[in-house]
This record gives sequence, structure tokens and C-alpha cells, in this order.
Amino acid sequence: MKILVIGGGGREHAICWKLAQSKDVHKVYCAPGNAGTAAVAENVDIAVTDIAGLVQFAQHQQIDLTVVGPEKPLILGVVDAFEAAGLRIFGPTAENAQLEGSKVFSKQLMKQAGVPTASFEVFETAPDALAYLAAATYPIVIKADGDAAGKGVVVAASLEEAQDAITRIMVTREFGASGDKVVIEACLNGPEASLMAFVDGDTVVPMLLAQDHKRIGEGDTGPNTGGMGAYGPVPGISQDEINAMCDVIIKPVVRAIKSTGIPYRGVLFAGIMLTPDGPMCLEYNCRFGDPETEIVLPLLETDLVEVINACVDARLDQIDVVFSRRSAVTVVLAAHGYPGAVRTGDVISGLEDAVKLDAVAVFHAGTRLAEDGTVHSSGGRVLTVTSTGDSFEEARERAYAALHRIHMDGGQFRRDIGWRATQEG
Ligand code: AMP
Ligand code: GLY
Repeated sequence: MKILVIGGGGREHAICWKLAQSKDVHKVYCAPGNAGTAAVAENVDIAVTDIAGLVQFAQHQQIDLTVVGPEKPLILGVVDAFEAAGLRIFGPTAENAQLEGSKVFSKQLMKQAGVPTASFEVFETAPDALAYLAAATYPIVIKADGDAAGKGVVVAASLEEAQDAITRIMVTREFGASGDKVVIEACLNGPEASLMAFVDGDTVVPMLLAQDHKRIGEGDTGPNTGGMGAYGPVPGISQDEINAMCDVIIKPVVRAIKSTGIPYRGVLFAGIMLTPDGPMCLEYNCRFGDPETEIVLPLLETDLVEVINACVDARLDQIDVVFSRRSAVTVVLAAHGYPGAVRTGDVISGLEDAVKLDAVAVFHAGTRLAEDGTVHSSGGRVLTVTSTGDSFEEARERAYAALHRIHMDGGQFRRDIGWRATQEG
């Protein structure tokens, strides 16, 4: 099989790396890819938003299967366009990708399907939202409806902060049309977890439960990032509890979508808060998580192509999806300045030494291969260093040992990935 992977981050490197191990795959392309994907795939210079260019490439190369990494092309309708051209692709249609693309759509669907989530109201004008806030209790959570590059959610401690968020989203329109509507919801408390599932329109198979670390600083302090590391499975949470989360948070929306429209196919990823009243859904993503994928795929024992084909052909109930009983930890190496204005072009060394350690994989995110063969940083999150181990501690020690073999000027990483697991485990 010839496969095309769309995207160019750590998640896509992990997807390419896993697909390249399949006995059925003889060629992987990655659009646009990065310096890491170049080692397991052939990079193709097509942007993830160039839907027509991607269709044309897949037709021309007679690609057998396309796997989509990021949400943007899904929301733009890459799956609809590929299917219209008779091409096989793994991911939800544009309509179903609204689960991630619109907070209003996803909250309304959660409510309709009876999924436990924070109580909420939707507002279409700033005066209505401000009038509601004047009588609300604090803290409260404000979410811009559409895509806002991860900055559209504000947990406001006071009325003033909430008013400021409404002004930025709905009046000065910092996120453009994404601020046409807002969701205002009750603030929940508790640790967060990421649950991804393979979905074939009907059958839902949960992956391992993972926990990521969104803040830049140790002890979960400082500004939010795209993720500084992840680990899984989460110690102390049993498979029965994970199945129960899947039953109340993922399966009901898959059923609701199936009953009203085009069945949901692809990965459905729920951001969950483990509150004292039980698990509650914070959001859905219509794709694999990043960096969660960098720990989940190394632990997947079943051939990924077999799982994806079963989803595309709506026969996921006919295969066993098996995960290793080991643990995995991934630590992100970020560039100088991240998550603010980042410096790019720093030379990265020690990559070959790092992967000499057993059970270690280095997935590239923001990297670029220079003409002289050296690898340079080209983005905020530069690499994710993953290790598996028989225990969480073994995986973590090895991931850090590998990371210490890598050098990049100005590189930042958290030294406490998995701190919750050590505290509770
Ligand atoms: P979302 O994009 O909806 O997952 O929100 C991003 C982050 O905001 C989440 O990972 C949580 O840390 C936080 N968040 C979202 N909704 C709530 C809520 N209702 N209560 C508390 N924190 C929230
Ligand atoms: N790690 C969270 C996400 O992929 O959105």
C-alpha cells in the first residue's frame, strides 16, 4: 500500500513511523512533513490546507489510503473532497469535524446526547453575554465558538476578567469570525485526561488513557502551550473506568451523529475532567492528540493500517485492537521563547545518540533538514522524546536519559512530566 499522511508535527511523525512498520505498507508520503518524517517517509511540499493540491497528489500517485493529522484540513473538508474523488481517507467529514470546529455545535450535541459536561449558555451578542455575566458566579469559563489557535478559552476568576474576555472575543474580534458566538459555562475542577478512540461510524474502541501537560512551567504553572509532554496509561485508573468514560462521553455522540447524519469515522478524542462528581467532557477533538499520539502509538500492538482500514470499511467490530501493558512517557523539547515569540534555526545535535537507548523514539515536530544534513529548529515545539518501559518510572527515566543526550541552544523542557503519576502511583 501507498499511504499519504497529512501534517508535519510530532503526531504525524509518530503516525508515519508506525505506518512504516506495517507489513502491508511499502511507501509513506508526508505532506508537508519535517526533518524526522523524512527518515520514514517521503516529504511532499503541499500545505495541509491545500485541499485541491492534496487530492491531486493522491490521484496522481495512486495513494491507497490517506491519514489526516491536524484538525484544520478536516474542518475544511479534506475528507469530503477525497471521498468525492473516490479516494480512501481516514477522518471525519467537515460536518462531523464541527465537533472540534465549533464549541457551540459540540456543547449542543453533548447536551442532546446526554454526555456529562459543564452547564452552559450560548450568546450571539456582546450585550447579552455581558448581561449574563453581571449576575453569574465566579470563576466562570468563556469559550469562543470557532478555532482560535488554542487561545479561545478563558477561565475567568472575576467579572472584570470575564468582561475583558467578551470584549476581546466579540467586540475587538481578536479571533475574527470564531468570536461570532460564545459559550459561557460553569467552571469544573479536577485533573484532566485525554481519551482517544477509534471510530468506524458505529463501533468505538478506546485507546489508552493519557495525561498531557499544557503549561510551560513545572508543577503546571505559567502560560498554556500546545503540550509539553504526556504519559499513559494513567496509573490508578482501571480499564473498567476507561470503558465507563467511553460509554458516557464518546459512544453517545457517535450514536447521535449516526442517527442524524453521516456516521463519524476517524479518531474521536475527548478532553475529560475527572471531577468529584465523575468524569465530565470538556471538549472533543476530531483527530489524534499531540503529544498523546507519541505515547499511544508506540504502545499499540495491532498493525495501525489494519485498525484504520477496519474503521474506513466500517468493520472495527471484527478486529482486536491490542495495546501493550507497558507504560510510555514523552517529553517535549521546545524552542527558546516558547510559547511566546520563538527563535528558530538552532542546530540540534545528539539525535543519533538518543535513539541508541533501548525503547526510545524521537519524534520531530518543528524541525527542518538543512542542505548540509544538519537538523535545525523551525517551530515552537521542536521534538518529542518518547520511551516505553515496564513501569511508568522506567519509561520516564529513559525518556529523560535520551533527552539529556540531545542538545539545542535555548531548548526548554519540563523535568516533571508525569508528576501526578508519581504522586498517586
Ligand atoms: P477546551 O479547549 O474546551 O478543552 O479548553 C481548554 C482548557 O481549558 C481545558 O483543557 C481546561 O484546562 C480548561 N477548561 C475548559 N473548560 C473548562 C471548564 N468548564 N472548567 C474548568 N476548566 C475548563
Ligand atoms: N494535546 C491536546 C490536543 O492535541 O489538542
